Amino acid sequence: MTRHFLRDDDITPAEQAEILDLALELKSDRWARKPLEGPQTVAVIFDKSSTRTRVSFAVGIADLGGAPLIISTANSQLGGKETPADTARVLERMVSAIVWRTYGQSGLEEMSRDTTVPVINALSDDFHPCQLLADLLTIREHKGELSGLTLTFIGDGACNMAQSYLLAGATAGMHVRIASPRGYAPNEAVVADARSRAEQTNGSVSVLTDASEAAAGADVIVTDTWVSMGKEEEKAARLESLSAYRVDAQLMGKAKSDAVFMHCLPADRGFEVSGDVIDGPQSIIWDEAENRLHAQKALMVWLLERA
Ligand code: CP
Ligand code: NVA
Repeated sequence: MTRHFLRDDDITPAEQAEILDLALELKSDRWARKPLEGPQTVAVIFDKSSTRTRVSFAVGIADLGGAPLIISTANSQLGGKETPADTARVLERMVSAIVWRTYGQSGLEEMSRDTTVPVINALSDDFHPCQLLADLLTIREHKGELSGLTLTFIGDGACNMAQSYLLAGATAGMHVRIASPRGYAPNEAVVADARSRAEQTNGSVSVLTDASEAAAGADVIVTDTWVSMGKEEEKAARLESLSAYRVDAQLMGKAKSDAVFMHCLPADRGFEVSGDVIDGPQSIIWDEAENRLHAQKALMVWLLERA
């Protein structure tokens, strides 16, 4: 059966560890695996803007011997003109995998339902699982093991990154804390799924409103933009509601002295994070950005060898 990667808990804890091991192997020998030699083509579709995801998939597919086909929805029939299911039925005749950045998770579910090639979520309103593979790889490199670490997300707890931290962090056996104001808590069903995953891995999940309490003793502090793509009309209200949830030096001081700071980027310095933190010695954001390449290559090798 074709495997897809639409959310972080589509893979088991053992599979997540296997993909991260493979990512480290590919990072040390970038052209070691060529599952796309031919070249085979991978379609990478964008309904929303992107720098890191676009470049890391294009370069990663080329590293694996394949040909990336980057599609903007604005110039295609997808996006109101043709359904995700019909699009998939055309693409699967010609490409080896489909990568899609979109709005609703339901579109990805429809795209993958009867498709013979793997479908990869390159960010939806609900999840950003490729980013999480890169983040976990980066944390592993800096901290050794993932299991047992405390990871605290401060900010918009309902955004794709926060929800992916819940699922992926719980899968890795981490203690995941989310601190957000009322009205910005993660979806309850996602929290429940993360809790049930954490029960299997000895991790845990806490949803809080107090940023200092959430940051206390943490190994990793993360945040994300307060205004995710698609939420631009709510910008003024969001900046006001989230203003007490900035990651600054004082908040970092509550975490462990060797805590690291992460941000998937792009960042708004002075809003969700102060410049001295994101550009300071505890920040590992550039390693995190580079690891998009290695983590996604590992994901593609893993999915293609099972398809
Ligand atoms: N972090 C991330 O996904 O960046 P892009 O929006 O630039 O792809
Ligand atoms: N939460 C952000 C992530 C960007 C990579 C957004 O969806 O815009």
